[in-house]
Amino acid sequence: MSTPVLFAYWVTALCFILALKGLSSPKYARHGNMIGAFGAALAVVVTLCLHGLGHRWFIIIAIVFGALLAVPAARLVKMTAIPQMVAIFNGVGGGAAALVSITEFVRLHDTDTNAAASAVVFTAIVGSVSFSGSMITFAKLQELMTGRPILVPGAQYVTSAIALGALGLGIATVPASSVPLLVACGLLSLVLGVLFVLPVGGADVPVVISLLNAFTGLTVAASGYVLDNTLLIVAGTLVGASGTLLTQLMAHAMGRPITGVLFGAFRGGSTAGSTAEVATGDRAVRSAGAEDIAILLAYARKVAIVPGYGLAVAQAQHTIRELVDLLEGRGVQVFYAIHPVAGRMPGHMNVLLAEANVPYEQLKEMDEANPEFTSTDVTVVVGANDVVNPAARDQVGSPIYGMPILNVDEAANVVFMKRSLRPGFAGIDNALLYHPKTTLFFGDAKDSLSKLVAAVKAL
Ligand code: TAP
Repeated sequence: MSTPVLFAYWVTALCFILALKGLSSPKYARHGNMIGAFGAALAVVVTLCLHGLGHRWFIIIAIVFGALLAVPAARLVKMTAIPQMVAIFNGVGGGAAALVSITEFVRLHDTDTNAAASAVVFTAIVGSVSFSGSMITFAKLQELMTGRPILVPGAQYVTSAIALGALGLGIATVPASSVPLLVACGLLSLVLGVLFVLPVGGADVPVVISLLNAFTGLTVAASGYVLDNTLLIVAGTLVGASGTLLTQLMAHAMGRPITGVLFGAFRGGSTAGSTAEVATGDRAVRSAGAEDIAILLAYARKVAIVPGYGLAVAQAQHTIRELVDLLEGRGVQVFYAIHPVAGRMPGHMNVLLAEANVPYEQLKEMDEANPEFTSTDVTVVVGANDVVNPAARDQVGSPIYGMPILNVDEAANVVFMKRSLRPGFAGIDNALLYHPKTTLFFGDAKDSLSKLVAAVKAL
Protein backbone atom coordinates (compact mmCIF):
# COMPACT_ATOMS: atom_id res chain seq x y z
CA MET A 1 0.00 0.00 0.00
CA SER A 2 1.42 3.41 -0.97
CA THR A 3 2.15 6.07 1.63
CA PRO A 4 -0.75 8.40 0.58
CA VAL A 5 -3.20 5.50 0.92
CA LEU A 6 -1.82 4.57 4.33
CA PHE A 7 -2.05 8.21 5.35
CA ALA A 8 -5.70 8.39 4.19
CA TYR A 9 -6.48 5.21 6.14
CA TRP A 10 -4.78 6.70 9.17
CA VAL A 11 -6.97 9.83 8.86
CA THR A 12 -10.04 7.60 8.54
CA ALA A 13 -9.13 5.63 11.67
CA LEU A 14 -8.73 8.94 13.52
CA CYS A 15 -12.17 10.06 12.25
CA PHE A 16 -13.73 6.84 13.62
CA ILE A 17 -12.14 7.40 17.03
CA LEU A 18 -13.30 11.03 17.10
CA ALA A 19 -16.76 9.89 15.98
CA LEU A 20 -17.02 7.52 18.94
CA LYS A 21 -15.86 10.26 21.27
CA GLY A 22 -18.51 12.64 19.87
CA LEU A 23 -21.24 10.00 20.06
CA SER A 24 -20.61 9.56 23.78
CA SER A 25 -22.27 12.91 24.56
CA PRO A 26 -25.65 14.15 23.31
CA LYS A 27 -24.16 17.58 22.72
CA TYR A 28 -21.56 16.38 20.20
CA ALA A 29 -23.31 13.25 18.88
CA ARG A 30 -24.32 14.93 15.61
CA HIS A 31 -20.76 16.13 14.96
CA GLY A 32 -19.46 12.68 15.85
CA ASN A 33 -21.80 11.11 13.34
CA MET A 34 -20.70 13.52 10.58
CA ILE A 35 -17.01 12.89 11.31
CA GLY A 36 -17.59 9.12 11.19
CA ALA A 37 -19.51 9.40 7.91
CA PHE A 38 -16.72 11.54 6.43
CA GLY A 39 -14.15 8.94 7.50
CA ALA A 40 -16.14 6.12 5.94
CA ALA A 41 -16.62 8.07 2.69
CA LEU A 42 -12.88 8.86 2.54
CA ALA A 43 -12.03 5.19 3.04
CA VAL A 44 -14.37 4.13 0.22
CA VAL A 45 -13.05 6.75 -2.21
CA VAL A 46 -9.40 5.94 -1.45
CA THR A 47 -10.05 2.21 -1.78
CA LEU A 48 -11.79 2.74 -5.12
CA CYS A 49 -8.71 4.62 -6.35
CA LEU A 50 -6.35 1.82 -5.33
CA HIS A 51 -4.08 0.78 -8.14
CA GLY A 52 -4.93 -2.68 -9.45
CA LEU A 53 -8.41 -2.87 -7.92
CA GLY A 54 -10.54 -5.23 -10.01
CA HIS A 55 -14.26 -5.04 -10.80
CA ARG A 56 -14.34 -1.32 -9.96
CA TRP A 57 -17.66 -0.78 -11.75
CA PHE A 58 -19.31 -3.71 -10.05
CA ILE A 59 -18.30 -2.23 -6.73
CA ILE A 60 -19.64 1.20 -7.64
CA ILE A 61 -22.95 -0.28 -8.84
CA ALA A 62 -23.23 -2.26 -5.57
CA ILE A 63 -22.59 0.91 -3.55
CA VAL A 64 -25.20 2.87 -5.52
CA PHE A 65 -27.71 0.05 -5.14
CA GLY A 66 -27.05 -0.19 -1.39
CA ALA A 67 -27.31 3.58 -0.97
CA LEU A 68 -30.62 3.66 -2.89
CA LEU A 69 -32.01 1.20 -0.36
CA ALA A 70 -30.37 2.50 2.78
CA VAL A 71 -30.73 6.28 2.46
CA PRO A 72 -34.55 6.36 2.21
CA ALA A 73 -34.79 3.59 4.83
CA ALA A 74 -32.66 5.62 7.27
CA ARG A 75 -34.49 8.88 6.56
CA LEU A 76 -37.99 7.44 6.80
CA VAL A 77 -37.55 5.10 9.75
CA LYS A 78 -39.50 6.07 12.86
CA MET A 79 -37.29 6.68 15.85
CA THR A 80 -39.05 3.90 17.73
CA ALA A 81 -38.05 1.44 14.97
CA ILE A 82 -34.35 2.28 15.03
CA PRO A 83 -33.30 -0.81 17.06
CA GLN A 84 -34.58 -3.18 14.36
CA MET A 85 -32.94 -1.05 11.69
CA VAL A 86 -29.63 -1.23 13.55
CA ALA A 87 -30.15 -5.00 13.76
CA ILE A 88 -30.61 -5.42 10.02
CA PHE A 89 -27.74 -3.09 9.06
CA ASN A 90 -25.49 -4.83 11.57
CA GLY A 91 -26.47 -8.27 10.29
CA VAL A 92 -25.67 -7.49 6.67
CA GLY A 93 -22.33 -6.01 7.80
CA GLY A 94 -21.35 -9.24 9.56
CA GLY A 95 -22.61 -11.36 6.65
CA ALA A 96 -20.72 -9.24 4.11
CA ALA A 97 -17.45 -9.46 6.06
CA ALA A 98 -17.81 -13.24 6.28
CA LEU A 99 -18.53 -13.53 2.55
CA VAL A 100 -15.54 -11.37 1.63
CA SER A 101 -13.20 -13.56 3.70
CA ILE A 102 -14.67 -16.76 2.29
CA THR A 103 -14.24 -15.40 -1.25
CA GLU A 104 -10.62 -14.56 -0.47
CA PHE A 105 -10.17 -18.10 0.84
CA VAL A 106 -11.64 -19.58 -2.35
CA ARG A 107 -9.31 -17.39 -4.41
CA LEU A 108 -6.13 -18.13 -2.50
CA HIS A 109 -6.72 -21.30 -0.53
CA ASP A 110 -3.79 -23.28 -1.94
CA THR A 111 -1.27 -20.71 -0.78
CA ASP A 112 -2.96 -19.68 2.43
CA THR A 113 -1.13 -19.75 5.74
CA ASN A 114 -2.73 -21.47 8.70
CA ALA A 115 -3.07 -18.14 10.48
CA ALA A 116 -4.99 -16.56 7.59
CA ALA A 117 -7.13 -19.69 7.18
CA SER A 118 -7.96 -19.57 10.91
CA ALA A 119 -9.00 -15.95 10.53
CA VAL A 120 -11.25 -16.95 7.60
CA VAL A 121 -12.86 -19.68 9.71
CA PHE A 122 -13.41 -17.15 12.50
CA THR A 123 -15.15 -14.70 10.12
CA ALA A 124 -17.25 -17.52 8.66
CA ILE A 125 -18.50 -18.62 12.09
CA VAL A 126 -18.91 -15.28 13.85
CA GLY A 127 -20.11 -13.37 10.76
CA SER A 128 -22.74 -16.03 9.98
CA VAL A 129 -23.98 -16.08 13.59
CA SER A 130 -24.17 -12.29 13.50
CA PHE A 131 -26.07 -12.31 10.19
CA SER A 132 -28.74 -14.89 11.00
CA GLY A 133 -29.02 -13.82 14.66
CA SER A 134 -29.55 -10.21 13.61
CA MET A 135 -32.28 -11.25 11.15
CA ILE A 136 -34.14 -13.00 13.98
CA THR A 137 -33.79 -9.97 16.29
CA PHE A 138 -35.13 -7.82 13.43
CA ALA A 139 -38.12 -10.14 13.00
CA LYS A 140 -38.79 -10.08 16.75
CA LEU A 141 -38.67 -6.31 17.12
CA GLN A 142 -40.60 -5.72 13.89
CA GLU A 143 -43.23 -8.09 15.30
CA LEU A 144 -42.93 -10.37 12.28
CA MET A 145 -42.73 -13.15 14.87
CA THR A 146 -43.39 -13.40 18.59
CA GLY A 147 -41.10 -11.33 20.78
CA ARG A 148 -41.24 -13.92 23.56
CA PRO A 149 -38.53 -16.52 24.12
CA ILE A 150 -38.95 -19.55 21.87
CA LEU A 151 -37.65 -22.65 23.55
CA VAL A 152 -38.18 -26.21 22.40
CA PRO A 153 -37.38 -29.11 24.75
CA GLY A 154 -33.72 -30.08 24.57
CA ALA A 155 -32.88 -26.87 22.71
CA GLN A 156 -29.72 -26.37 24.74
CA TYR A 157 -28.37 -29.77 23.62
CA VAL A 158 -29.20 -29.13 19.96
CA THR A 159 -27.60 -25.67 20.15
CA SER A 160 -24.48 -27.04 21.85
CA ALA A 161 -24.21 -29.86 19.28
CA ILE A 162 -24.51 -27.39 16.40
CA ALA A 163 -21.95 -25.05 17.98
CA LEU A 164 -19.52 -27.97 18.39
CA GLY A 165 -20.25 -29.12 14.83
CA ALA A 166 -19.51 -25.66 13.39
CA LEU A 167 -16.33 -25.44 15.44
CA GLY A 168 -15.22 -28.94 14.37
CA LEU A 169 -15.80 -28.17 10.70
CA GLY A 170 -13.91 -24.90 11.13
CA ILE A 171 -10.94 -26.62 12.74
CA ALA A 172 -10.92 -29.27 10.01
CA THR A 173 -10.99 -26.55 7.34
CA VAL A 174 -7.60 -25.12 8.32
CA PRO A 175 -5.22 -28.04 7.59
CA ALA A 176 -7.43 -29.43 4.80
CA SER A 177 -7.71 -26.00 3.18
CA SER A 178 -11.08 -27.22 1.99
CA VAL A 179 -13.71 -24.89 0.54
CA PRO A 180 -16.64 -27.34 0.97
CA LEU A 181 -15.76 -27.79 4.66
CA LEU A 182 -15.64 -24.01 5.09
CA VAL A 183 -19.02 -23.58 3.38
CA ALA A 184 -20.55 -26.30 5.59
CA CYS A 185 -19.09 -24.54 8.65
CA GLY A 186 -20.66 -21.22 7.52
CA LEU A 187 -24.07 -22.86 6.91
CA LEU A 188 -24.07 -24.56 10.32
CA SER A 189 -23.12 -21.22 11.91
CA LEU A 190 -26.17 -19.62 10.26
CA VAL A 191 -28.35 -22.19 12.04
CA LEU A 192 -26.43 -21.51 15.25
CA GLY A 193 -27.21 -17.77 15.00
CA VAL A 194 -30.94 -18.54 14.76
CA LEU A 195 -30.88 -20.95 17.72
CA PHE A 196 -28.79 -18.51 19.74
CA VAL A 197 -31.36 -15.70 19.51
CA LEU A 198 -34.69 -17.58 19.52
CA PRO A 199 -34.68 -18.17 23.33
CA VAL A 200 -34.06 -14.49 24.11
CA GLY A 201 -37.16 -12.61 25.28
CA GLY A 202 -38.53 -9.18 24.33
CA ALA A 203 -36.76 -6.64 26.54
CA ASP A 204 -33.47 -8.55 26.30
CA VAL A 205 -33.44 -8.46 22.49
CA PRO A 206 -31.72 -5.02 22.28
CA VAL A 207 -28.89 -6.35 24.47
CA VAL A 208 -28.41 -9.19 22.02
CA ILE A 209 -28.43 -6.74 19.09
CA SER A 210 -25.58 -4.92 20.78
CA LEU A 211 -23.70 -8.19 21.34
CA LEU A 212 -24.17 -9.20 17.70
CA ASN A 213 -22.89 -5.75 16.76
CA ALA A 214 -19.71 -6.53 18.69
CA PHE A 215 -19.53 -9.87 16.83
CA THR A 216 -19.74 -8.01 13.51
CA GLY A 217 -16.90 -5.75 14.61
CA LEU A 218 -14.72 -8.75 15.38
CA THR A 219 -15.65 -10.32 12.03
CA VAL A 220 -14.61 -7.16 10.21
CA ALA A 221 -11.33 -7.01 12.15
CA ALA A 222 -10.55 -10.64 11.25
CA SER A 223 -11.43 -10.02 7.60
CA GLY A 224 -9.01 -7.07 7.72
CA TYR A 225 -6.32 -9.55 8.74
CA VAL A 226 -7.25 -11.87 5.86
CA LEU A 227 -7.19 -9.00 3.35
CA ASP A 228 -4.12 -7.41 4.95
CA ASN A 229 -6.08 -4.18 5.40
CA THR A 230 -5.13 -2.14 8.47
CA LEU A 231 -8.19 0.08 8.33
CA LEU A 232 -10.59 -2.86 8.56
CA ILE A 233 -8.64 -4.16 11.56
CA VAL A 234 -8.85 -0.77 13.32
CA ALA A 235 -12.53 -0.12 12.47
CA GLY A 236 -13.57 -3.68 13.35
CA THR A 237 -11.73 -3.55 16.66
CA LEU A 238 -13.41 -0.25 17.53
CA VAL A 239 -16.85 -1.69 16.78
CA GLY A 240 -16.03 -4.91 18.65
CA ALA A 241 -14.82 -3.04 21.74
CA SER A 242 -17.59 -0.43 21.82
CA GLY A 243 -20.26 -3.07 21.14
CA THR A 244 -18.94 -5.19 24.01
CA LEU A 245 -18.97 -2.22 26.40
CA LEU A 246 -22.47 -1.20 25.31
CA THR A 247 -23.69 -4.77 25.83
CA GLN A 248 -22.29 -4.77 29.36
CA LEU A 249 -23.80 -1.36 30.15
CA MET A 250 -27.24 -2.37 28.84
CA ALA A 251 -27.25 -5.67 30.72
CA HIS A 252 -26.16 -3.81 33.86
CA ALA A 253 -28.93 -1.21 33.39
CA MET A 254 -31.47 -4.02 33.21
CA GLY A 255 -30.00 -5.59 36.34
CA ARG A 256 -29.09 -8.91 34.72
CA PRO A 257 -25.77 -10.53 33.84
CA ILE A 258 -25.09 -11.09 30.13
CA THR A 259 -25.25 -14.84 30.70
CA GLY A 260 -28.73 -14.32 32.21
CA VAL A 261 -29.81 -12.45 29.06
CA LEU A 262 -28.44 -15.14 26.74
CA PHE A 263 -29.13 -18.32 28.64
CA GLY A 264 -31.86 -17.29 31.11
CA ALA A 265 -34.56 -19.16 29.20
CA PHE A 266 -32.44 -22.33 29.01
CA ARG A 267 -32.11 -22.32 32.79
CA GLY A 268 -35.85 -22.22 33.18
CA GLY A 269 -35.96 -18.57 34.32
CA SER A 270 -38.01 -16.30 32.11
CA THR A 271 -36.14 -13.57 30.31
CA ALA A 272 -37.68 -10.13 30.52
CA GLY A 273 -40.84 -9.72 28.53
CA SER A 274 -41.64 -13.39 28.56
CA THR A 275 -44.82 -13.24 30.57
CA ALA A 276 -47.94 -11.19 30.19
CA GLU A 277 -49.30 -10.63 33.68
CA VAL A 278 -51.93 -8.10 32.76
CA ALA A 279 -53.92 -6.44 35.53
CA THR A 280 -56.85 -8.41 36.76
CA GLY A 281 -59.59 -7.58 39.21
CA ASP A 282 -61.38 -4.31 39.86
CA ARG A 283 -58.80 -2.34 41.79
CA ALA A 284 -59.66 1.34 41.96
CA VAL A 285 -57.55 4.01 40.33
CA ARG A 286 -57.76 7.77 40.75
CA SER A 287 -57.87 9.88 37.62
CA ALA A 288 -58.06 13.63 37.07
CA GLY A 289 -58.34 16.17 34.27
CA ALA A 290 -55.94 18.81 32.99
CA GLU A 291 -57.16 21.60 35.30
CA ASP A 292 -56.57 19.64 38.53
CA ILE A 293 -53.15 18.45 37.45
CA ALA A 294 -52.17 21.94 36.26
CA ILE A 295 -52.89 23.25 39.78
CA LEU A 296 -50.89 20.42 41.35
CA LEU A 297 -47.92 21.24 39.13
CA ALA A 298 -48.11 25.03 39.11
CA TYR A 299 -48.10 25.26 42.92
CA ALA A 300 -45.41 22.62 43.48
CA ARG A 301 -41.89 23.49 44.59
CA LYS A 302 -40.13 20.66 42.82
CA VAL A 303 -41.38 18.56 39.89
CA ALA A 304 -39.73 15.55 38.24
CA ILE A 305 -40.58 14.45 34.70
CA VAL A 306 -40.03 10.78 33.83
CA PRO A 307 -40.20 10.31 30.05
CA GLY A 308 -40.70 6.87 28.51
CA TYR A 309 -41.57 5.08 25.32
CA GLY A 310 -45.05 6.67 25.11
CA LEU A 311 -43.49 10.15 24.88
CA ALA A 312 -41.63 8.98 21.77
CA VAL A 313 -44.76 7.38 20.28
CA ALA A 314 -46.77 10.55 20.83
CA GLN A 315 -43.87 12.75 19.62
CA ALA A 316 -44.64 15.00 22.56
CA GLN A 317 -41.07 16.15 23.28
CA HIS A 318 -41.75 19.75 22.19
CA THR A 319 -44.96 19.97 24.21
CA ILE A 320 -43.32 18.64 27.38
CA ARG A 321 -40.60 21.24 26.98
CA GLU A 322 -43.26 23.94 26.62
CA LEU A 323 -44.89 22.76 29.85
CA VAL A 324 -41.56 22.68 31.70
CA ASP A 325 -40.70 26.19 30.47
CA LEU A 326 -44.06 27.43 31.75
CA LEU A 327 -43.55 25.80 35.15
CA GLU A 328 -40.03 27.18 35.46
CA GLY A 329 -41.39 30.58 34.55
CA ARG A 330 -43.59 30.25 37.61
CA GLY A 331 -40.61 29.42 39.82
CA VAL A 332 -41.08 25.65 39.96
CA GLN A 333 -37.84 23.64 40.03
CA VAL A 334 -38.09 20.95 37.32
CA PHE A 335 -35.78 18.12 36.28
CA TYR A 336 -36.08 15.17 33.89
CA ALA A 337 -35.20 11.74 35.33
CA ILE A 338 -33.73 9.52 32.62
CA HIS A 339 -33.70 5.75 32.96
CA PRO A 340 -30.99 4.04 30.85
CA VAL A 341 -33.46 1.69 29.11
CA ALA A 342 -36.45 4.03 28.88
CA GLY A 343 -37.86 3.89 25.36
CA ARG A 344 -36.64 1.32 22.91
CA MET A 345 -32.96 2.07 22.32
CA PRO A 346 -29.97 3.24 24.32
CA GLY A 347 -30.11 7.00 24.78
CA HIS A 348 -33.62 7.15 23.31
CA MET A 349 -34.88 9.75 25.78
CA ASN A 350 -31.74 11.87 25.50
CA VAL A 351 -32.09 11.97 21.72
CA LEU A 352 -35.79 12.76 21.94
CA LEU A 353 -35.36 15.58 24.42
CA ALA A 354 -32.34 16.95 22.55
CA GLU A 355 -34.64 17.28 19.52
CA ALA A 356 -36.72 19.70 21.56
CA ASN A 357 -33.54 21.52 22.73
CA VAL A 358 -34.12 20.60 26.35
CA PRO A 359 -31.03 21.92 28.20
CA TYR A 360 -28.71 19.07 29.24
CA GLU A 361 -28.46 20.51 32.75
CA GLN A 362 -32.13 19.61 33.30
CA LEU A 363 -31.49 15.91 32.60
CA LYS A 364 -30.55 13.66 35.52
CA GLU A 365 -29.46 10.08 34.92
CA MET A 366 -31.01 7.42 37.18
CA ASP A 367 -28.31 7.39 39.87
CA GLU A 368 -28.42 11.15 40.14
CA ALA A 369 -32.24 11.36 40.01
CA ASN A 370 -33.12 8.68 42.56
CA PRO A 371 -31.98 10.58 45.68
CA GLU A 372 -34.11 13.55 44.49
CA PHE A 373 -37.52 11.86 44.61
CA THR A 374 -37.98 12.02 48.39
CA SER A 375 -37.87 15.83 48.15
CA THR A 376 -40.03 15.98 44.98
CA ASP A 377 -43.62 17.21 45.25
CA VAL A 378 -44.92 15.80 41.98
CA THR A 379 -43.42 13.25 39.59
CA VAL A 380 -45.03 13.22 36.15
CA VAL A 381 -44.53 9.90 34.39
CA VAL A 382 -45.10 10.53 30.68
CA GLY A 383 -45.55 7.34 28.67
CA ALA A 384 -43.22 5.32 30.91
CA ASN A 385 -44.15 2.19 32.81
CA ASP A 386 -41.58 -0.60 33.27
CA VAL A 387 -38.80 1.80 34.29
CA VAL A 388 -40.85 2.95 37.31
CA ASN A 389 -42.50 -0.36 38.16
CA PRO A 390 -41.79 -1.15 41.86
CA ALA A 391 -42.13 -4.89 41.05
CA ALA A 392 -38.55 -4.68 39.75
CA ARG A 393 -37.48 -3.75 43.25
CA ASP A 394 -39.92 -5.59 45.50
CA GLN A 395 -41.39 -8.59 43.72
CA VAL A 396 -39.04 -11.57 43.68
CA GLY A 397 -39.89 -13.74 40.68
CA SER A 398 -41.18 -10.88 38.56
CA PRO A 399 -39.63 -11.00 35.05
CA ILE A 400 -38.17 -7.55 35.69
CA TYR A 401 -37.03 -8.26 39.27
CA GLY A 402 -33.55 -6.84 39.79
CA MET A 403 -33.77 -4.16 37.09
CA PRO A 404 -32.82 -0.86 38.73
CA ILE A 405 -35.77 1.57 38.49
CA LEU A 406 -36.51 5.22 39.07
CA ASN A 407 -37.97 5.33 42.57
CA VAL A 408 -40.82 7.67 41.65
CA ASP A 409 -43.04 6.20 44.37
CA GLU A 410 -40.87 8.11 46.87
CA ALA A 411 -42.25 11.46 45.60
CA ALA A 412 -45.20 13.03 47.42
CA ASN A 413 -47.48 12.69 44.35
CA VAL A 414 -47.24 10.70 41.14
CA VAL A 415 -49.07 11.61 37.94
CA PHE A 416 -49.18 8.95 35.21
CA MET A 417 -49.90 10.12 31.68
CA LYS A 418 -50.89 7.15 29.53
CA ARG A 419 -53.85 6.03 27.47
CA SER A 420 -55.06 3.07 29.51
CA LEU A 421 -54.10 0.67 32.29
CA ARG A 422 -52.30 -1.53 29.78
CA PRO A 423 -48.80 -2.67 30.80
CA GLY A 424 -45.56 -1.62 29.13
CA PHE A 425 -43.01 -3.56 27.12
CA ALA A 426 -42.41 -6.29 29.72
CA GLY A 427 -46.14 -7.05 29.77
CA ILE A 428 -46.49 -6.93 33.54
CA ASP A 429 -48.89 -5.10 35.78
CA ASN A 430 -47.71 -1.97 37.60
CA ALA A 431 -49.00 -1.70 41.18
CA LEU A 432 -48.02 1.97 41.29
CA LEU A 433 -50.95 2.80 38.99
CA TYR A 434 -53.27 1.79 41.83
CA HIS A 435 -51.33 3.46 44.65
CA PRO A 436 -53.23 6.12 46.69
CA LYS A 437 -50.62 8.78 45.87
CA THR A 438 -51.03 8.19 42.12
CA THR A 439 -53.30 10.19 39.82
CA LEU A 440 -53.87 8.99 36.27
CA PHE A 441 -54.30 11.43 33.42
CA PHE A 442 -55.60 9.28 30.57
CA GLY A 443 -54.99 10.13 26.92
CA ASP A 444 -52.36 10.38 24.22
CA ALA A 445 -49.32 12.08 25.78
CA LYS A 446 -49.25 14.91 23.25
CA ASP A 447 -52.96 15.72 23.61
CA SER A 448 -52.78 15.55 27.40
CA LEU A 449 -49.67 17.73 27.54
CA SER A 450 -51.26 20.31 25.22
CA LYS A 451 -54.27 20.43 27.52
CA LEU A 452 -51.96 20.83 30.54
CA VAL A 453 -50.06 23.67 28.85
CA ALA A 454 -53.36 25.47 28.18
CA ALA A 455 -54.53 24.86 31.74
CA VAL A 456 -51.29 26.15 33.30
CA LYS A 457 -51.44 29.25 31.05
CA ALA A 458 -55.00 29.86 32.19
CA LEU A 459 -54.08 29.87 35.91
P1 TAP B 1 -42.91 0.86 28.62
O1 TAP B 1 -42.74 0.11 29.86
O2 TAP B 1 -42.92 0.13 27.34
O3 TAP B 1 -44.26 1.69 28.79
C1 TAP B 1 -44.64 2.60 27.83
C2 TAP B 1 -46.00 3.12 28.22
O4 TAP B 1 -46.31 4.16 27.32
C3 TAP B 1 -47.10 2.08 28.10
O5 TAP B 1 -47.54 1.70 29.37
C4 TAP B 1 -48.19 2.75 27.28
O6 TAP B 1 -49.39 2.70 28.02
C5 TAP B 1 -47.72 4.19 27.18
N1 TAP B 1 -47.98 4.79 25.87
C6 TAP B 1 -47.80 4.25 24.65
N2 TAP B 1 -48.15 5.11 23.71
C7 TAP B 1 -48.58 6.24 24.34
C8 TAP B 1 -49.07 7.49 23.90
N3 TAP B 1 -49.24 7.77 22.61
N4 TAP B 1 -49.38 8.40 24.83
C9 TAP B 1 -49.26 8.14 26.15
N5 TAP B 1 -48.78 6.97 26.62
C10 TAP B 1 -48.45 6.03 25.72
O7 TAP B 1 -41.81 2.01 28.46
P2 TAP B 1 -40.61 2.44 29.40
O8 TAP B 1 -41.08 2.68 30.79
O9 TAP B 1 -39.92 3.52 28.64
O10 TAP B 1 -39.70 1.16 29.49
C11 TAP B 1 -38.98 0.69 28.41
C12 TAP B 1 -39.17 -0.80 28.28
O11 TAP B 1 -38.69 -1.20 27.00
C13 TAP B 1 -38.38 -1.58 29.31
O12 TAP B 1 -39.05 -2.77 29.61
C14 TAP B 1 -37.08 -1.87 28.56
O13 TAP B 1 -36.41 -3.00 29.09
C15 TAP B 1 -37.63 -2.15 27.19
N6 TAP B 1 -36.68 -1.93 26.11
C16 TAP B 1 -35.74 -0.97 26.23
C17 TAP B 1 -34.88 -0.76 25.21
C18 TAP B 1 -33.85 0.30 25.38
S1 TAP B 1 -32.31 -0.06 25.09
N7 TAP B 1 -34.20 1.48 25.76
C19 TAP B 1 -35.02 -1.46 24.02
C20 TAP B 1 -36.07 -2.41 23.90
C21 TAP B 1 -36.89 -2.63 24.97
P3 TAP B 1 -50.81 2.85 27.26
O14 TAP B 1 -50.84 1.80 26.23
O15 TAP B 1 -51.79 2.65 28.38
O16 TAP B 1 -50.85 4.23 26.71
